[in-house]
Amino acid sequence: MNRKSTKPTSNIRSRIENLYYSPTLAINDQVQNIRDDGLQILHLGFGQSPFPVHPVIQSALQANVDKNLYLPSAGLPELRHIAKNYFSKSLGFDGEGYEAIIGPGSKELLFDIQMVVDGDLLLPVPSWVSYAPQAMLIEDRVIKIPTVIAENYHITAERLENAIQSAIRDGKNPRKLIVNSPNNPTGLILPPAQISEIVQICRTYNILVISDEIYGLVDYKRDHVSIARFYPEGTIVTSGLSKHLSLGGFRLGIILIPKTLMAIYDGVLRVASETWSCVSAPIQFASIQAFKNDSQIEDYIRSCTRIHALVSQYVRDALANIGVDYPDPQGAFYLYPDFEPFRVKLRERGIETSDQLAIDLLMKTHIASLPGTSFGDEPGKLRLRLASCDFDGQTALDFFRDHPSCSPEKFVSACCPNIKLACERLESYFFL
Ligand SMILES: Cc1ncc(COP(=O)(O)O)c(C=O)c1O
Repeated sequence: MNRKSTKPTSNIRSRIENLYYSPTLAINDQVQNIRDDGLQILHLGFGQSPFPVHPVIQSALQANVDKNLYLPSAGLPELRHIAKNYFSKSLGFDGEGYEAIIGPGSKELLFDIQMVVDGDLLLPVPSWVSYAPQAMLIEDRVIKIPTVIAENYHITAERLENAIQSAIRDGKNPRKLIVNSPNNPTGLILPPAQISEIVQICRTYNILVISDEIYGLVDYKRDHVSIARFYPEGTIVTSGLSKHLSLGGFRLGIILIPKTLMAIYDGVLRVASETWSCVSAPIQFASIQAFKNDSQIEDYIRSCTRIHALVSQYVRDALANIGVDYPDPQGAFYLYPDFEPFRVKLRERGIETSDQLAIDLLMKTHIASLPGTSFGDEPGKLRLRLASCDFDGQTALDFFRDHPSCSPEKFVSACCPNIKLACERLESYFFL
């Protein structure tokens, strides 16, 4: 349901005519409508962490309902300070050299930073759905960096350099690179050795890195390290509350910009002041609580992350059982399997693209997923992004508290019926 106007219009910009309703939100709306009609759907299409709002955060929000004033566009000073320290420490870099801006979700901040920083965008394929449309909105060109599953879909120094050089030869102006680890759609983490190589290339070609670390705390083994540790002078970091605290609807994000890049910081601030003004005041006051290293909240984050690890591993193992190899997931709550081993079989059913595969899967098995094309992949690649969060968060937390070392199999069988059913249906779909 990628809504795009079909009627000829005279007063809509062509770039808006070419813009789709974001695929992740579209699939979520669609699933919601189907569920509202009382029909069953197994929702592997949307990455929404399903855990309840932590009671400490709920109380903090209740205590701040009376906050009705506009706040500075950069955000509440106390929140900026505490959030910067918390994220830089958790993500493994020195926050001293950085300034923070609090925004209405990291998605908006990613758009603002793309708008402020001049030049064309280097983007790995696959990449999260919104980076390329955001670049298109500000008429930047996207320079794709290919990756391969055998290298865990990571960009390598060689592929990055090739992309930069060929873009320059084509008259483009590559100036910024988006890196996302832990990654959506792959659920994989960029290892430090690879980061060092990438940084060398960025230094050589003077490329600014925009490091999207929204899943930085949904890191199964705590082995995620920010690229900002290796390239502090050239890395801008974004994160927020949406994923590790299941607070997507709070719409609170953060951007950390090196103090040496004050012109960029001022640019984002001016854009903020002329567009969204500030994040909702009660949300900002309440969010301070999220960064106080409260032991209950930290335990909750650890439990939620561990549960994501169990469920993702279960889906990975189910894929392996049907003959689709995938690395062990390392963070976030996604897998990005390639159904190439079934190409011949699928062709016999008239399926040759990831879009056709996603639609057929939805029709035949009621599994919602997203096709590889939404992540910039070639249409003919038979890749789907599967999100592993269609379960009840409270049930999962309760079960996990009593069975902290249980296996993925036992865990999913006990409290993730939709995930289990989806995996069974995947198996029958491919072996039909
Ligand atoms: C990779 C990635 N970056 C950024 C975002 C935006 O998160 P938010 O705007 O909720 O902070 C998402 C949300 O799905 C995401 O998956």
